Amino acid sequence: MRRTVWIVLVVAMAVGVSSIRSAADGSAEARARGEYMIKAMDCNACHTPWKLGSRGPEPDTSRLLSGHPGKAGFPPPPSLAPGPWNVVTAGNTAWSGPWGISYSSNLTPDEETGLGSWTEKAFADCMRHGKHLGDGRDLLPPMPRYPELTDADLHAMFVYLESIPPVANRVPDPEPRRGTP
Ligand code: HEC
Repeated sequence: MRRTVWIVLVVAMAVGVSSIRSAADGSAEARARGEYMIKAMDCNACHTPWKLGSRGPEPDTSRLLSGHPGKAGFPPPPSLAPGPWNVVTAGNTAWSGPWGISYSSNLTPDEETGLGSWTEKAFADCMRHGKHLGDGRDLLPPMPRYPELTDADLHAMFVYLESIPPVANRVPDPEPRRGTP
């Protein structure tokens, strides 16, 4: 009887250890895949603020994916003469166009100002359907929609975004259109 209990215990521990290990390997793999996807899809182009480096403008990696700097206090966008040119950007994180002004969101895991309190489902729905928080208002340009991303890829991207350093940066709400952009 005792022997049976021991055998059961040892088997249970072995199963437990191996499932912990496979979960850890799984998320390291997902994180690496997510990092690759976020870089390859160039989310940084719009979601990482840029700074002036020795060779010209470059992404400021100390503020990786932290969105439009809320305290930057940018002046209002210039008015453009009527014609085909109708979008202007400041720092690739603030965008003025026929829709008004949009500001690239903070994608770091900060609880208050980033994706820290988001569920994976909200992230996946937002990316696929272009809705704020997954089921809210339509997201504004130039945020693309990615309807073809698979569950596995969206999971990987979310795992990676949840693993980068949180940056407390409150991005301003978008502003409606005021006259010509
Ligand atoms: C061309 C610029 C651009 C690119 C590229 C871009 N984004 Fe965005 N993104 C934005 C802007 C601008 C907003 C804010 C839109 C709004 O407020 O409606 C935004 C918003 C978001 C939001 C927040 C949505 C919400 O519900 O508040 C998430 C999440 C997001 N982007 C993730 C990504 C990811 C991940 C990538 C790369 C796969 C990416 N974005 C690529 C410009 C961009």
